[in-house]
Amino acid sequence: MITPDTIEKIMDAARIEEVVGEFVSLKRRGVNMIGLCPFHNEKTPSFSVSAPKGIYKCFGCGKGGNAVNFLMEHEHYTYPEALRYLAQKYNIEIEEEKPSPEQQQAMDLKESLFNVSAFAQKFFEEQLHDSEEGRSIALTYLKERGFTTEVIRRFGLGYCPGAWDSFTQTALKNGYKKEYLLKTSLSKSKDQMLYDTFRDRIIFPIHNLSGRVLGFGGRILTNEKNRPKYINSAESDIYQKSKVLYGIYFAKSQMVSLDNCYLVEGYTDVIALHQAGITNVIATSGTALTTDQIKLIRRYTSNVTLLFDGDPAGIKAAFRGLDLILEEGLNVRVVLFPDGEDPDSFAREKRPAEVRSFVEEQAADFISFKTTLLLEETRDDPIRKAQLIKEIAQTIALIPEPIARTIYVQKCSTMMGVEEQLMVSEVNRIRREKFKRKHQPETAKDEDMIPVPGDRRTSPQKQEYEETNHRPEQEIIRLLLNHGAKEITFEVENEDKRMVEVAVTVAEFILQDIHSDDLMLDNVICQNILNEYAGWWEQKKLPAHSIFTQHQDEDVRKLAIDLLSSQYTLSKNWEQRHKIYLKDEEDELKPRVLYAVYAFKLQKLEKMLAEIQQKIRDMSRQIPADEEMLLELMKTQRDLLEKRRAFARELDRVVTR
Ligand code: CTP
Ligand code: MN
Repeated sequence: MITPDTIEKIMDAARIEEVVGEFVSLKRRGVNMIGLCPFHNEKTPSFSVSAPKGIYKCFGCGKGGNAVNFLMEHEHYTYPEALRYLAQKYNIEIEEEKPSPEQQQAMDLKESLFNVSAFAQKFFEEQLHDSEEGRSIALTYLKERGFTTEVIRRFGLGYCPGAWDSFTQTALKNGYKKEYLLKTSLSKSKDQMLYDTFRDRIIFPIHNLSGRVLGFGGRILTNEKNRPKYINSAESDIYQKSKVLYGIYFAKSQMVSLDNCYLVEGYTDVIALHQAGITNVIATSGTALTTDQIKLIRRYTSNVTLLFDGDPAGIKAAFRGLDLILEEGLNVRVVLFPDGEDPDSFAREKRPAEVRSFVEEQAADFISFKTTLLLEETRDDPIRKAQLIKEIAQTIALIPEPIARTIYVQKCSTMMGVEEQLMVSEVNRIRREKFKRKHQPETAKDEDMIPVPGDRRTSPQKQEYEETNHRPEQEIIRLLLNHGAKEITFEVENEDKRMVEVAVTVAEFILQDIHSDDLMLDNVICQNILNEYAGWWEQKKLPAHSIFTQHQDEDVRKLAIDLLSSQYTLSKNWEQRHKIYLKDEEDELKPRVLYAVYAFKLQKLEKMLAEIQQKIRDMSRQIPADEEMLLELMKTQRDLLEKRRAFARELDRVVTR
């Protein structure tokens, strides 16, 4: 394992502009460098690299990170691979350290499981191509299904002979331990005897991102109904099916360059489409899609096209997958195959070019897909139609990004011939409810809602989008990260009643001010950053940007990168919105810090106030009323109102100063 010391040396040496510069042509603009984003198609550059901060960020597609992240994203390196690349580039000698005995044990176990899986894959493949049994039964079967030798080889397909334990015996003879055979579920034991789990089956090896085999699927060769069609590897230390997508190793580079992927159900669908020239294809392998799998997809593309069977089961699966993907913020399109056909059978009947044009032409955006399908069902039944509106609104409400939500609302209301306003309020109602369920005491924030069309105060949509990014909490963290070490000055009265200037750092001011009121940020990621920052602060240290931009918590890392790189745009909007025009953020830090802190506290107060007022309403409905409690609540309410007035005044002073 690479020592933390070496990692630090590498990170210190790596110049983000040089690392990125090898792949993207960059031009200087101010303190930053800009270029065309290598992660999405664009004609005007929105990809920005900040040398002082060591990070890159694309304002078009949102990707961002440090030098290591760039290499992992762009070159699809693993973490250690990216480090080694940088070490070589900057002539840094890599020191490796012995892992602890426990680490070593865990690594040894995984490595042993990978090794035995690799051995099994080779054995099965040989059996398929070189044994009499394999050739006559299994290879014939695959050829009859129309698979070419080339694609059979590419996916490393194999055959496990029908004898009781031919694989197990060979593996044991080659020194693979029984323990590992059982842990990978390649072998099973019965009455002290080991036998082959996959005997008499076609073998589909499942590869991880770097191409190592971590599990298998085995298909029977017949149409028997009393044996399961597929047997799959059980979960193990190397195989967790909710985190793996079949085919991703073969698909990932095309997923990136085409910025799209096709999601199918089965092993054979993946292989058949590859053969038809569609290689950005992956499968869930019979299980329901998971969020971990969607996150895996998102490393390569944020566009997913679902390819499903047009029967009711397929449609249901498509609906489910669709909601989950939307919720993760990816874009979804759907292609339904004619009833009874799956991508594999379809590809068998048609020429490759026909298959390709079919999926391209049929791909419908999810809203058209869902609306058309459901609309067909409802015909002109007004009650069913009302229900349908609700159903579609449910799906739209899942989309995290407000602008995308608005666009889909518009599209859907046009398609269904209903007032946009109706759709908007339905989506907003669902979001409000969802929000309540998630954060009990909170109420959904207005800025989380789609603005009502025509409402002058809240539209245009752009403003709403900006507001979502402008919660005071984020602004506080942004200021902390960007300017924590800088000083702001206050005038205070000293012991001799004279006014003197004292300087405090932005970090000190923010941490103490929030701490003294015992306030928590509502956003957990912001609060995590604040806590960690405070931890450093208590040790009289200032955390480097890289602590957060290289944080192991993905959410922290993303937010930090966003906040550190979006300084300029953020402050622009900030100024316009609050009518405070400042030359340079650094020159006018104090009002910004004060504004952020007061705005945050005011928001907190408003929330507490709303809660108290709700309690008072509930309480006064009770019979008999608990007079004492009610009085207590009213007093709290008065205090809060007073505090709010004070804060509002201070806020006003900062703004109109
Ligand atoms: N599957 C499974 N166990 C089963 C049935 C299916 O794990 N008993 C998974 C497999 O990953 C399979 C996928 O679900 O690839 C889709 O199932 P199905 O369409 O029945 O299988 P196909 O791969 O299409 O197989 P074939 O075309 O050979 O019937
Ligand atoms: Mn099939």
